Amino acid sequence: MDRKRVVVIEGDDAAPEAVRPTMELLEKLNLAIDWLKPPIGDQGKELYGSVFPDQARQAIDESDATLFGAASSKSTAALFYLRFGKLTFANVRPAKWLPGFKSPLAKPKGIDLVIVRENLEDLYLGIEGELGILEPLNLISPFTQKKIAEMAPGRFGLKVITEKGTERVARFSFELARKRKAKGHPGKVTCATKHNMLSLSDGFFREVTKKIAQSYPDIEFESLIVDDFAHRLAANPQQFDVAVMPNLYGDILSDMTGGLIGGLGLAPSGCYGNSYAYFEPVHGTAPDIAGKNIINPTATILSAALMLEYLGFAQEAERMEKAIEKVYAEGRILPKDQGGSATTTEFVAAIKEYL
Ligand code: NAI
Ligand code: MG
Repeated sequence: MDRKRVVVIEGDDAAPEAVRPTMELLEKLNLAIDWLKPPIGDQGKELYGSVFPDQARQAIDESDATLFGAASSKSTAALFYLRFGKLTFANVRPAKWLPGFKSPLAKPKGIDLVIVRENLEDLYLGIEGELGILEPLNLISPFTQKKIAEMAPGRFGLKVITEKGTERVARFSFELARKRKAKGHPGKVTCATKHNMLSLSDGFFREVTKKIAQSYPDIEFESLIVDDFAHRLAANPQQFDVAVMPNLYGDILSDMTGGLIGGLGLAPSGCYGNSYAYFEPVHGTAPDIAGKNIINPTATILSAALMLEYLGFAQEAERMEKAIEKVYAEGRILPKDQGGSATTTEFVAAIKEYL
């Protein structure tokens, strides 16, 4: 196998405290991977006068994947490039409960689902503005019969759902469900949209996904209104396997699925395009606990495991997951957010022993 190249971006605030020990674990595995650490953020600014200098962009372009901590508002340029520059359209957010995870639910056993969040469209294109600029379009609300001019002053945000954008994320979701089915999962895709109110935009997402479903007769398909999906998620998350949805719902509900299994410290993600992928915890930079060496690195380590799988190191990915499983099952050495008293360093040392 050829050597792989991976860019590592530690990120801001407490994120590096999770990324650095994750790197220790990865280095212990002695993989055929070259790790690149281009200057980004403060370091980029100091050396090249930019938080995201050309050198960093080039390193990403020449790599197979990126492992990303989390960025505060000052260094989102790199994240935006990984997303919109590398067209990583499928934001995959697994939520799997393991014995020892401090779930708030009475019966978390068996939660093992994946949210696939469309990553490039919907309200996240950033097309917003003053209502006034829409006036010439003579748009009228079908519900209130009001024209834009009657509503101004005010602002709007544009929700965009394209055929191509939906097709690719839907197909990705069915392929994922198929791969999971081969490993014993039910083989089901749930589409969650607000097609009752947004019949054209969300209705289109649903329609296109339904059409893709026809090419996967081996995978069960269901379509739910996103409110109903949220309710079922709280009441009985075990019923879900793979759930695909537009960007905004996926963003919000994947924080919720993180909460269901025991918190953001446990929720990993991988964002996949046709020729690139980057991996990051669902959580942000946790500025309130920066410098304390108590951040739970589980989400970052599990994100790294997803990355190893993507790069073709499936066995090593499994070793990392199994090591985490053992430490949680034992429950002796756990981070603070999981009810333990171990520092990040102590927790990672425990994982290292089982690796
Ligand atoms: P956050 O996820 O950083 O923190 C929310 C709460 O959860 C905090 O109390 C934090 O201490 C705790 N927490 C998060 N991860 C944890 C972990 N691994 N172990 C233990 N506790 C953990 O979200 P918040 O506070 O809304 O945002 C902080 C910063 O992160 C902001 O600048 C925001 O823009 C950024 N952010 C970046 C993201 C990214 O890079 N993809 C995603 C979300 C937020
Ligand atoms: Mg979110």
